[in-house]
Amino acid sequence: MKNGILRDKVAVITGGSRGLGLAIAQTYAGAGAKVVIASRTSRTVDQAVDSLRANGYQVEGFVCDVSDMQQIEALAQHAIQTFGKIDIWVNNAGLSAPYGPTVHIPSMDFLKVINTNIIGTYNGSAVAMRYFLTQNRGKLINLLGRGDNGSIALQNAYSSSKVWVRNFTKTLAAEYKHSGVDIFGFNPGLVRTDMLSNVSAVKGYEKRMNPLRYVAMLWGNEADVPAGKALWLASSATDGKSGLMVTVLTMQMMISRLIGLPFRKLLNRSTELLDLNVVSVESAVTGD
Ligand SMILES: NC(=O)c1ccc[n+]([C@@H]2O[C@H](COP(=O)([O-])OP(=O)(O)OC[C@H]3O[C@@H](n4cnc5c(N)ncnc54)[C@H](OP(=O)(O)O)[C@@H]3O)[C@@H](O)[C@H]2O)c1
Repeated sequence: MKNGILRDKVAVITGGSRGLGLAIAQTYAGAGAKVVIASRTSRTVDQAVDSLRANGYQVEGFVCDVSDMQQIEALAQHAIQTFGKIDIWVNNAGLSAPYGPTVHIPSMDFLKVINTNIIGTYNGSAVAMRYFLTQNRGKLINLLGRGDNGSIALQNAYSSSKVWVRNFTKTLAAEYKHSGVDIFGFNPGLVRTDMLSNVSAVKGYEKRMNPLRYVAMLWGNEADVPAGKALWLASSATDGKSGLMVTVLTMQMMISRLIGLPFRKLLNRSTELLDLNVVSVESAVTGD
């Protein structure tokens, strides 16, 4: 156990069934927290709970869609009924849309990103904050992502949603500055998860995804790296630091990875290209 720095804490992690959310669940539980993980698919929630419990961790699963406020309220109630309270809430569930120009993307795919990344973060933040404010403490961590500080062509749904999450989180932190609740934005950098390697693209745009193989090889991390940073954010080390926007992939890390590449090859360290799976989707623009 990592010094038990989250001993007696209860954490809720949306999108905790796989990828980064599961790594955060593992890291928090390893640091002594009781953890509730949630996602839409009961099979993967059960698998994740079983794998965490096999390590002796106190973990509960809950099937819910973050875009539905009632389901998020039920998730919070389930955590409180099971473990007595909530100390940490991580709005980690996230989706991306097919790669391509905005109106070429089927509207359903675009809206799914809005509903999960924006509405889901609003729902989770509102429910967590209403609870945290009654106890004058708590840690709310909202996941940022690529483009959260600007615009990314051909990834409008995702990048615009993360711009919204960043602004929403900063505003929340400003409004509740003296509440005792700490509110953080967290950009985990490039993480080798399904989101990175199982992607979709509008027909004709598939090849444009190829550079991702190299980018992920250079700058990607396994999920336990950002999960370690998320542990720090949830710990007492950040008490009173509400409003922090933390980024794992700093310019310094990017440069040192680039310079270190030949040495990594020499030392036979992982220099494998990302195994990228691109699914084609039909353009929503007729006649394309
Ligand atoms: N991977 C990266 O390089 C990267 C980079 C920057 C930021 N991020 C951010 O980090 C977070 C986690 O990403 P990841 O890479 O771990 O993604 P991932 O591997 O695709 O996992 C996403 C998780 O979210 C759940 N989920 C998706 N939509 C949901 C919904 N509507 N309601 C409830 N759960 C939902 C998924 O389970 P179900 O499908 O079963 O619901 C899964 O557990 C996201 O917010 C992402 O934007 C990732």
